[in-house]
Amino acid sequence: MVSVVFVCLGNICRSPTAEGIFRHLVENAGLDEHIHIDSAGTHSFHVGSPPDGNAQAEARRHGIDISHLRGRQAKSDDFQKFDYVLAMDSENHRNLLSICPDGSEHKLHIFLNFAPAVGLTDVPDPYYEGGFDSVYDMIEKASHGLLADIQENHL
Ligand code: 4NP
Repeated sequence: MVSVVFVCLGNICRSPTAEGIFRHLVENAGLDEHIHIDSAGTHSFHVGSPPDGNAQAEARRHGIDISHLRGRQAKSDDFQKFDYVLAMDSENHRNLLSICPDGSEHKLHIFLNFAPAVGLTDVPDPYYEGGFDSVYDMIEKASHGLLADIQENHL
């Protein structure tokens, strides 16, 4: 079993979108019994909340239901539980590094490094910068790259 967790700030826009898209890809590849998927936020603002309505609507437009997901806060223990900890942006990466136990740093990745063609390091906040459709597209591209990496290195 390989396990991955997507992490953004609030766990209501970018990371639940990534969780939904990646689960969809994994199910289509018939790998759902081999890959465990979760998401979290570095902050606690939205613990227990469903994904933002615009993020839900964008996912639904692509046939993906993320309405059942609920926010939770990332914790140190996630580095024990997960093989890949995927930061949506560099600020998330910094915050995750600050709770990362010694020796687990190799598990922490900038998510968009799995989509070099996108040419960005940070998945922008869809409200203020990114726009929900373009953020969706870049998350989808990096999800394909991540799945290819897992298939090559773990399965
Ligand atoms: P996310 O977006 O990190 O993609 O879930 C945000 C959602 C809420 C807040 C910030 C970012 N907030 O400050 O409440």
